[in-house]
Amino acid sequence: MDANYDALKAIKRAVEQKDYAAVTLKAKDIMSAMDKTLDHFPKGVTGEKSRAKPEIWEKWDEFSKRPLKVKEVAGALAKAAAAKDEAQVQVQFKALGAESPFRSGACYECHKDFRTSPPRKEKSGG
Ligand code: HEC
Repeated sequence: MDANYDALKAIKRAVEQKDYAAVTLKAKDIMSAMDKTLDHFPKGVTGEKSRAKPEIWEKWDEFSKRPLKVKEVAGALAKAAAAKDEAQVQVQFKALGAESPFRSGACYECHKDFRTSPPRKEKSGG
């Protein structure tokens, strides 16, 4: 998940710099990460420190479709960047979560339903 966020931030910088090769690369990183997202949520692994909601396993059918949506948007972004289509890059980046994966966009679509907020602190002191 943190790697996804790093990729998203790298995309933000690359979009600003109109570095479309980097946008394509990072969007593809997110696409392959989405193939593995469900592996991070084996049944019953919710600890005190986890923000994973029990709804993940209660509504698995629904949950398991969310990474596909992110993958779709990241794919559209990669395509737009490969074509150097600036307007479309802006549109798809916004759809992915230009602001924050915890405020809007395709990443947020899963977080808002399946992750408790606020973001977990790096070190909570116990
Ligand atoms: C299928 C649902 C789903 C999708 C799609 C998803 N996430 Fe998450 N994300 C979660 C859940 C659930 C957690 C909480 C995990 C935990 O605390 O164990 C989380 C946590 C995070 C965190 C906090 C890291 C942490 O240590 O808790 C970041 C950052 C994050 N996601 C980024 C992203 C980004 C960026 C994307 C899109 C590219 C994304 N996520 C897509 C479900 C999702």
